[in-house]
Amino acid sequence: METDNIVETVSELFKAQAHIYKHAFGYANSMALSCAIQLGIPDIIHNHKKPITLSELLSALKLPSSKSIGIHRLMRLLVHSQFFAINENSGTELGYALTTPSRLLVKSEIPNLSPCVRVMVDPVAVTPWQLLGEWFHQNEEATAFETAHGLSMWEFCAQNPRFDKIFNDGMASESQMMRLVVKDCREVFEGLNSLVDVGGGTGIIAKTILEAFPHLKCIVLDLPHVVANMPQSKNLSYVGGDMFQSIPNADAILLKHVMHDWSDEDCVKMLKRCREAIRDKNEGRKGKVLIIDMILNRNEEAADMTEVKLIFDVMMMVLLTGRERTEKEWEKLFLEAGFMTYKISPVFGLSSLIEVFP
Ligand SMILES: C[S@@+](CC[C@H](N)C(=O)[O-])C[C@H]1O[C@@H](n2cnc3c(N)ncnc32)[C@H](O)[C@@H]1O
Repeated sequence: METDNIVETVSELFKAQAHIYKHAFGYANSMALSCAIQLGIPDIIHNHKKPITLSELLSALKLPSSKSIGIHRLMRLLVHSQFFAINENSGTELGYALTTPSRLLVKSEIPNLSPCVRVMVDPVAVTPWQLLGEWFHQNEEATAFETAHGLSMWEFCAQNPRFDKIFNDGMASESQMMRLVVKDCREVFEGLNSLVDVGGGTGIIAKTILEAFPHLKCIVLDLPHVVANMPQSKNLSYVGGDMFQSIPNADAILLKHVMHDWSDEDCVKMLKRCREAIRDKNEGRKGKVLIIDMILNRNEEAADMTEVKLIFDVMMMVLLTGRERTEKEWEKLFLEAGFMTYKISPVFGLSSLIEVFP
């Protein structure tokens, strides 16, 4: 085959064919993973406390023996994609064991990312991807999500309690990962008395921060339907409202995975509201804004992180009007909103902590 004077060998063309199939069938990997979670396979292996043989797995799943070969084939794919390992089980028999990724999918453990996977593969979130090409051709809808469902994602959540719950549970499960590092961020929270978690969902992050820094007063601001009926406590209260209208005053404003949902213009508006909220007119005290979000093209990142960040970036376009940003793009937003300096700490894996100062 010859195009543009590039001559490929037959073996390169067959490799390219496999590359195409691998990517076109990317959904097969996500559906196989989702099926294993749905069946509770990580939980069964976790509770078994040693590698589990195929027949033991089948009986724990309460599946007929006719499904044995199906489970074997599902597990073979998931072993290949490193969700499970094959280890020796008491002597000579081989059994399935958990790996680090599947340990993060055990429902009885914290962190448990199963709810996060659930929302990612829900048909409400997947259908817009099938309409992406159509969306590029039309001007009416801001996102492919709107092309698919006729509403923005936040409007859809407000009107669909089933998806709203799945979405909020997914966000909360992702936030459990914060537990692994918040206690080590002492200098970030030092000197603060109050914090507002803007777009803080059901308050998991606020609770995690309060566990490590119980002296703080935390407010979670989110859309009214998200925080309706949330139980308040001495140090934690919930406010239903719109972050583009007003944000309660505090020493620090936290925005975790909120700014990547929005366009540059909306982010500048949001940051200006944050700047007002951390300014204390009487004492002249200035607080800070804490942003937890991805930063594209960081030098220190592993290659497989880059692909995930690029997938998130396109997802922000498909589902919402947002995007992932490079450090330069973040800096531009901060300066436009009137902030002077910022400090980046790459402490949350895919996401970084950006402290922004007025
Ligand atoms: C991607 S989620 C992040 C949730 C949480 N910060 C976390 O990381 O788990 C974005 C959140 O922003 C909230 N949100 C959307 N529009 C909002 C608005 N205008 N005012 C306040 N919150 C809003 C959503 O309800 C949702 O909880």
